[in-house]
Amino acid sequence: MLFKKKEPIGLDIGSSSLKVAKITGTKTGYELSLYNELQLPQGLIVDGIISDSSTLVSQIKELIRTAGLKSGDVNIGISGHSSVIVKKISLPLATYDELSASIISEAEQYIPFDISEVNLDFEILGTKRDEEDMMDVLLVAVKKNIMDSYVEAVQQAGLNPVVLDIDSFALSNIFEINYPEDINKNIAIVNVGASKTSINILQSGAPVFTRDSAIGSNYHTEELCRAFDLSWENAERLKKGQPIEKVSPEEAAIVLSSASDELFAEVYRSFEYFRSSISDEVMNEVYLSGGAALIKGFQDAMIERLSLKVAVMDPFKNISISPKLDASYIKDIAPSAVVALGLAIRRAGD
Ligand SMILES: Nc1ncnc2c1ncn2[C@@H]1O[C@H](COP(=O)(O)OP(=O)(O)OP(=O)(O)O)[C@@H](O)[C@H]1O
Ligand SMILES: [Mg+2]
Repeated sequence: MLFKKKEPIGLDIGSSSLKVAKITGTKTGYELSLYNELQLPQGLIVDGIISDSSTLVSQIKELIRTAGLKSGDVNIGISGHSSVIVKKISLPLATYDELSASIISEAEQYIPFDISEVNLDFEILGTKRDEEDMMDVLLVAVKKNIMDSYVEAVQQAGLNPVVLDIDSFALSNIFEINYPEDINKNIAIVNVGASKTSINILQSGAPVFTRDSAIGSNYHTEELCRAFDLSWENAERLKKGQPIEKVSPEEAAIVLSSASDELFAEVYRSFEYFRSSISDEVMNEVYLSGGAALIKGFQDAMIERLSLKVAVMDPFKNISISPKLDASYIKDIAPSAVVALGLAIRRAGD
């Protein structure tokens, strides 16, 4: 190749914070060459919908300025149960071109949104194991107005969107790079963010179940606010293990643990659905990510509640961190960086 492919940045527009990452290909593999984050005001993004676009634009500008960037190519992700539907469906064998022509009519029955309001994409996964005249197809539908609002925000911030990804695909991409040895197992990636929990089940590397539930770690914060009559800021501090007046870490742990149970019940329901409708095979392992993975005791409680092996995903198993960056800080917050890293690793055309 004459020119080195331009490396995009990955920008994760989460409801609680923006995260930007750049991953550079090196002779020996991948290296994280940039990572920055910025807290967003609460209520700016609710249920995936941008409530105040001009504030988001100025926040993105602020983030890229502090990261030392001005412009450039960016990969962003869309997520949320009211914005994106990812479904594995079975259809009679057809070529890519044949399916391109018929996908709208085929998809209609599977998409709970008005078909004229979505952008559709699909991937042919292969012939079904038990029915040779049928094939598995992964169907992706994204609400046009939501997608446009994210694209416009990054453009107005001076960036050039090149890949519009889905958060759950970014999660499976970063997983595959770091855990190639686990690719033939049944794996669940559970990313618990502030406003949602993304559950992504992979069977031999292919997504078989993807769902964003509308409960995330804001629920922990709300429960702390309610139990101890705290401001949002103080409840967030308490959740992160920082000392606050009048509430001990032990008292907080009891409230956090019962809030976690609600979250795990949602995850458990998805796993039950996998077992009953998709596969009788056992789930081998759960990989946990998202900011909630940083809550003390969360991983252990999840192991106990789901009776499964749960590991916190380490996105730096096969990605090194540039010596220019604060590796110890980045490793500490790694679970919350995985979506940004998964977005950063995508190249247009992949
Ligand atoms: N060190 C920590 N200890 C405990 N909780 C933390 C810690 N760091 C972040 N969190 C919590 O994790 C959540 C943020 O996680 P994350 O960054 O994955 O969410 P997000 O991507 O902004 O939101 P979403 O994906 O739901 O839109 C917040 O609720 C925050 O309080
Ligand atoms: Mg997120």
